[in-house]
Amino acid sequence: MVRELGGPDSMRLEEVDPGEPHDGFVRVAVRGAAINFPDVLMIAGLYQVKPELPFVPGVEVSGEVLSAPASSGFNAGDHVMALLDSGGLTRGGYAEIADAAPQSVVRMPDEMSFEDGAGFTLIYQTGWFGLHRRAKLQPGETLLVHAAAGGVGSAAVQLGKAAGATVIATAGSDEKVAVCLKLGADHALNYKTQDFVEEVKKLTDGRGADVIYDPVGGEVYDRSTKCIAFEGRIVLVGFTSGHIPQAATNHILVKNYSVLGLHWGLYARRAHELIPPATHSLLDLYRSGKIKPHISARLPLTEAPRALAMVAGGKSTGKVVLRP
Ligand SMILES: NC(=O)c1ccc[n+]([C@@H]2O[C@H](COP(=O)([O-])OP(=O)(O)OC[C@H]3O[C@@H](n4cnc5c(N)ncnc54)[C@H](OP(=O)(O)O)[C@@H]3O)[C@@H](O)[C@H]2O)c1
Repeated sequence: MVRELGGPDSMRLEEVDPGEPHDGFVRVAVRGAAINFPDVLMIAGLYQVKPELPFVPGVEVSGEVLSAPASSGFNAGDHVMALLDSGGLTRGGYAEIADAAPQSVVRMPDEMSFEDGAGFTLIYQTGWFGLHRRAKLQPGETLLVHAAAGGVGSAAVQLGKAAGATVIATAGSDEKVAVCLKLGADHALNYKTQDFVEEVKKLTDGRGADVIYDPVGGEVYDRSTKCIAFEGRIVLVGFTSGHIPQAATNHILVKNYSVLGLHWGLYARRAHELIPPATHSLLDLYRSGKIKPHISARLPLTEAPRALAMVAGGKSTGKVVLRP
């Protein structure tokens, strides 16, 4: 429970009466709650969505349905993954019980664990819309993924490989580089010790990357414009560096590349009909073993502040999941 905005230690473990399920919502006994970078910002009061205080953080869970409206198609006992709309609600996923709108609930495949289910939706949906809908990644193209050992980055590496691209990954330490290679990247670079612009040019015979997936922003974006291919596409996914780059439109013009914004949540609100087909494709890829969340830490709810600090400090790889 967050009663005052601040760092990870501003969360307190409290017993709260869950009350009746939110009207028309599916009530879930949470078995896994993913930590997402925006949670860090939300708890600090720095995110665009600002829930009323006090609130329980967490927007992504897996679990077992406790109760559901008859019209929802879900029944008690179903294993589901769900996104929680933090908009008007103040009870999120770092909890034993959460309520989700039926359209944000998806039945998990039998073979999916609660940990995988908790860390599945946001990273792969973001990757799917970024790489396919926005960048129209083609088989045989070169995809450069930054922060590739992180949550959204690791998903983009796997989706890029599944789409038949050659994937070059960057990450901020040698340990993370090893994770990228394990995820299936064809090449992985430590951008703190290697010049990724030069390396990408070398690996592509001077052409550059066709698609660049950038969750970092700042200097990483600026340098990406130096190794984007003719008719390449840079997808802006996030600004974990804390710096929002300014696009040089003259450079975009003279080099014939595109800079594409990606805000997945807006698809959920404005074009929801695009999401079930994406979910269907993603679950097929999961069943065939082509994508699987890289869960690097599992912690009990009591350790939520430590779990959040791992993600906030850029120390984690893949997903960190709470097990209430
Ligand atoms: N556009 C969308 O629709 C959408 C959807 C979901 C998430 N996002 C955004 O995507 C970004 C990544 O989210 P995520 O959950 O994948 O986070 P994550 O797992 O924590 O990965 C972020 C990575 O960014 C890198 N990084 C670089 N500078 C950093 C800094 N100053 N502090 C912390 N990390 C830094 C770190 O990797 P290295 O050490 O390798 O640099 C870190 O591991 C976030 O900005 C999030 O808001 C966007």
